[in-house]
Amino acid sequence: MLLTSLMRIWLTRSLMPFQFRDYYTNKLYFEKEQELGLYIHLPFCRKLCSFCPYCKEIHKEDIAKDYKKALLKEIELVGLQLHSPKEVTSLYFGGGTPALMIEDIKELIQTLKKYFHITQGIGVELHPEDISKDNLIKLKTAGVSMISVGIQSFNKQCLSVLGRKPIDFENIFSLIKEADFEVVDVDLIFAIPNQTEELLLADIETAFSYGATQISTYPFIDFTFANNQYKPLAEKEKKKMLKGISTYCQKTGRRRTSIWTFAKPNTKKYSSITRDNFLGFGVSATTLLKEQFKINTFSIAAYCQRLSEGQLPTSLTLNFTLRQRAVYYLFWQAYTMQINLEEFEQYFGLHLNKLFGFEFWLARKLGLVKKQPTSYQLTEKGAYYFHLIEQAYTTAYIDKMWHISRKTPFPKEIILR
Ligand SMILES: C[S@@+](CC[C@H](N)C(=O)[O-])C[C@H]1O[C@@H](n2cnc3c(N)ncnc32)[C@H](O)[C@@H]1O
Ligand code: SF4
Repeated sequence: MLLTSLMRIWLTRSLMPFQFRDYYTNKLYFEKEQELGLYIHLPFCRKLCSFCPYCKEIHKEDIAKDYKKALLKEIELVGLQLHSPKEVTSLYFGGGTPALMIEDIKELIQTLKKYFHITQGIGVELHPEDISKDNLIKLKTAGVSMISVGIQSFNKQCLSVLGRKPIDFENIFSLIKEADFEVVDVDLIFAIPNQTEELLLADIETAFSYGATQISTYPFIDFTFANNQYKPLAEKEKKKMLKGISTYCQKTGRRRTSIWTFAKPNTKKYSSITRDNFLGFGVSATTLLKEQFKINTFSIAAYCQRLSEGQLPTSLTLNFTLRQRAVYYLFWQAYTMQINLEEFEQYFGLHLNKLFGFEFWLARKLGLVKKQPTSYQLTEKGAYYFHLIEQAYTTAYIDKMWHISRKTPFPKEIILR
């Protein structure tokens, strides 16, 4: 906690914390943003997994119906602010278990397409139990080109720790192959109690051999409000495992596309968060713009109520200082292992060295980054330290934000120090 605070003070050159306030407006300044992505949160699940921190509840037909109506209203409230249709990079559906609203996905896409022109594809997160021939056809017909399957592990014991049962993986991946998506991401969790490096590497190989174009390997995080019976393995084990994943993927010709993702060569990325700017729709969805970061309420009832009154369901807003925005930008760029100097300058109108010359000099001296002609590339050592930073901020910031937001639909403020 102290470390994350000191880093924030150092990098933002200010004692001012990240201050999220209950201020909201229906006006969003996104018309001129380049590299804008879209995200829709569908928060329903068949069963709630003890380890999962995301905003979700048990699926109920009538609530989902009201939720869809509110979502369409939110899209209209945002879309109508545009003077002409806007180009966006991508659209991702996350959850929850988006396929529980599969009949609505097409309508949501069509409504968004009235205002936005999606250039790089549409992605949907799937639970393994969602995968049937019928569902995959529906997704393809709606225009979905990328899927991410939450396998977590192929191993029976690891699944049992996470409260899941193995299913016929061979069958679901043969259906996926037949449906022929451009991107197939497989989510795996590592550092599950009793998981060995050998089991983890076997999971990775199984995922690729079944046709994954990308794997996302997330370290098991024990959120304070989760209901985990078993705790993740210690950081020492996580370090060894992450090194093992990276070495194995390198040896077998898979590229590291971010701290926790690895892909087959010449394939596109599945990534809903690493965008310069994005608009989020639905409960708990965040919107990131040049000067603002806003979070929607986590309460489905409050979300539907606000939209029925013609108001955006914003719960909290952070107005960035330039340095805060630059730190946030660099955080997600560093997650992709590469910081492009020209893109930074284009976005901020300032050379990176003007803001963070000393930090990058130090990072080079410490062997955390390598200078390339137009970018800084994270080294293996840098990637490990970034993995530590990402986990520390998840625990210090995301855990706190989500914990409060789950209990209070519209908190007055949340201060992240
Ligand atoms: C919204 S969830 C998954 C979507 C889908 N409902 C499912 O369960 O397959 C996105 C991913 O976050 C990861 N995840 C969830 N809780 C986690 C935790 N406590 N630690 C690490 N990764 C986690 C899992 O890999 C999961 O697939
Ligand atoms: S892991 Fe997936 S299925 Fe489980 S509660 Fe989270 S979103 Fe729902």
